[in-house]
Amino acid sequence: MKVLLPGVLALLVVQSGYCFPQVTDTASLVITSTEPAKDGVEPIDSEKEVKPVVPKIYEMNINTNVSNRYAKTQIASKVKNLDKSANEAEFSVVTPERAFISGFVMEIDGKSYKAYVQEKEEAKKTYDEAVASGRAAGHVEASARDSNRFTVSVNIEPQSKAVFYLQYEELLQRQNGKYEVVINIHPGQPVKNMNVEVKIDESRPLKFVETPALRSGNEISTKENENLLPNANINRVNETSAIVTFKPDIEKQKEYAKELGTDKDGGLAGQFIVQYEVERDPSGGEVLVDGGHFVHFFAPSEVKPLPKMVIFVLDTSGSMSGTRIDQLKQAMNRILSELHENDVFSIIDFNDNAKVWNVDKVAVQHETASEYQPFWYRNEDESKQVFKNRTQQPIPSPYAANKANVEKGKQVVGKLHADGSTNIMDALKTALTIINKNHEEGKRNQPIIVFLTDGEATSGETNNDKIISSITELNNGKTPLFSLSFGDGADRSFLQKISLKNNGFARHIYEGADASLQLEDFYKGISSPLLSDVKFKYVDKVKEVTRTRYPILFHGGEIVVAGQIDPGFAPRPIEAMGFEGPVTLTPPTEVKTPPGSLERLWAYLTLKQILERRDAAENKTDLTKQALDIALKYSFVSDVSSLVVVKPNETSKAVETEDASKQRQGFGPGGHYQTLSLSAGGLRAPGKCICYG
Ligand SMILES: *[C@@H]1O[C@H](CO)[C@@H](O)[C@H](O)[C@H]1NC(C)=O
Ligand SMILES: *[C@@H]1O[C@H](CO)[C@@H](O)[C@H](O)[C@H]1NC(C)=O
Ligand SMILES: *[C@@H]1O[C@H](CO)[C@@H](O)[C@H](O)[C@H]1NC(C)=O
Ligand SMILES: *[C@@H]1O[C@H](CO)[C@@H](O)[C@H](O)[C@H]1NC(C)=O
Ligand SMILES: *[C@@H]1O[C@H](CO)[C@@H](O)[C@H](O)[C@H]1NC(C)=O
Repeated sequence: MKVLLPGVLALLVVQSGYCFPQVTDTASLVITSTEPAKDGVEPIDSEKEVKPVVPKIYEMNINTNVSNRYAKTQIASKVKNLDKSANEAEFSVVTPERAFISGFVMEIDGKSYKAYVQEKEEAKKTYDEAVASGRAAGHVEASARDSNRFTVSVNIEPQSKAVFYLQYEELLQRQNGKYEVVINIHPGQPVKNMNVEVKIDESRPLKFVETPALRSGNEISTKENENLLPNANINRVNETSAIVTFKPDIEKQKEYAKELGTDKDGGLAGQFIVQYEVERDPSGGEVLVDGGHFVHFFAPSEVKPLPKMVIFVLDTSGSMSGTRIDQLKQAMNRILSELHENDVFSIIDFNDNAKVWNVDKVAVQHETASEYQPFWYRNEDESKQVFKNRTQQPIPSPYAANKANVEKGKQVVGKLHADGSTNIMDALKTALTIINKNHEEGKRNQPIIVFLTDGEATSGETNNDKIISSITELNNGKTPLFSLSFGDGADRSFLQKISLKNNGFARHIYEGADASLQLEDFYKGISSPLLSDVKFKYVDKVKEVTRTRYPILFHGGEIVVAGQIDPGFAPRPIEAMGFEGPVTLTPPTEVKTPPGSLERLWAYLTLKQILERRDAAENKTDLTKQALDIALKYSFVSDVSSLVVVKPNETSKAVETEDASKQRQGFGPGGHYQTLSLSAGGLRAPGKCICYG
């Protein structure tokens, strides 16, 4: 029978990915419930309830093909219901955040059911209807940072088999000098035949292909755990191509689970990683042409880094107190050590107002304040004097990152103290004032703002739209703003928007023991600007070209430009500002034909960029339409489109993906909070057990 649970939140089991009747010590598990039925919810029929049997995954094949840095992954999971009664099996996969799901098919009893991509709103309606009628399958929880979760559940007859195929695609982003294919493996149970294969086929020689230790996906570790090395087979087919295979048997899967700190009966739950790099052109990059499209990969190796002017804008509001400020201090100490000798830096901390530190004196020199506020513990004259002293002192200029100043900078960091509210407007305005005053046009110093906050604006200007418009206007496109949201309290969409409008990007720092490592990791990516104001000049014999102007190229990164072409297309030089002033970098005139087509790469990049512009736009109507056209044409599941699966004997249902870093909490029967935790790629019998937290 099918047990219907209140609401969407199918209640589920702790840890290992499927229902099992044993009680764990953190949660009691109830197989039947005597909870009275709530509105719209069928009563649970306890008599017919049987011990849940998890349909067995007897084979799982994960296959990734990468060509021209464009990766297509297919996950195939084959299951059999060994029970005497029908069981609902759930297929759930964690996909990388930057990937678009591009296909889903399930085969049940030899029949196949193909999912199609539909406009989000439309799909949502179908989904909400299903939820309202209580039929919606709960979304399974698997946790991994920077990931999405795809879940679908289906009823399988006794002794029947089902196969699920999910495909997703992404353009790999070069970071710290390499590309990384990240494959989340979360079957939820040990799997007899587990095969992972990654094929790389590039037009340039491969510099290296490596498989580092498996990761949990939720933690950065400082040193590699040898017991987590995958010992994958790396077959270098030829100079430009390689095949990596990873086939852990059941024993090995359990060992990895143990090393990763997860339940071994839940099988392997972690990330298998393949890293590689290609030989690069020293200056103008690499242009590939396939007849209908071109792509230009640009990551020059012979460019001297630009000196930079970094303004650190650090939230020291009350919510930062405790672990967060300690982690921030740890990270800042190392980040300061990594400044280059010819860089300059300023430190601003902010809570009720913004404070600019005099690094030399290791004291706050300038504070912002819109109006006089008396200090209750001082007399009026003194109070006015102190106020004047704090707010009317000149803002100190950035400090040279020499050894002495870096040491003093660390002392400043040591003095930071968390207290008070969050005045984001004052903080960012002050940072821009420093840059506007000290950065001379045409000077090579690249200004950068590193803005960290764990909350929303609560003092000064608190209207996010006003903050965005004032800051964007004051900045005038000059300084990239990199935002870091720390923990769950920060307003991520606000930070994303303000960063995108100011030529930067936002990153999330997950709460965890490794938060300071995440911060350092982020900083590493932006620590060496190579070129600023990078311009690709594609205009003739091309159309539908992706973004052609970039404010900065960082060491270890890459800029990718793609477009549609007409006959007669030729590579064009790139103009930028470098260490020695304006530079022109010319790609080789010889264009190469890539292995495989470039069309989907172009479509992927185009859609990603439209969605980013849409994130930052006030009126999203036109961009939504543009995005939808591409998403539907290339069947990409994105912010504007959803996947709809017509399930056997049921109405069609939209399948949503969710942020996979969180474990969902919600109200279950009896009003208890339930923490759901499940593994992806796995199967379970939802609704067969209820877990009271
Ligand atoms: C990868 O390529 C092989 C053959 O070259 C093909 O059979 C397989 O379906 C491809 N996989 C994906 C995910 O595109
Ligand atoms: C290398 O191997 C791949 C895959 O077999 C093939 O497509 C490619 O043409 C080969 N390249 C060279 C230079 O032989
Ligand atoms: C104000 O600043 C001046 C100069 O820095 C200092 O001499 C004076 O003691 C300060 N006054 C107060 C009340 O802090
Ligand atoms: C947004 O733009 C669309 C198309 O350009 C227009 O029809 C619509 O009125 C605009 N909406 C608002 C709220 O300005
Ligand atoms: C729907 O269910 C009925 C009765 O269980 C079954 O006979 C029929 O084959 C099912 N249809 C599909 C499309 O699975």
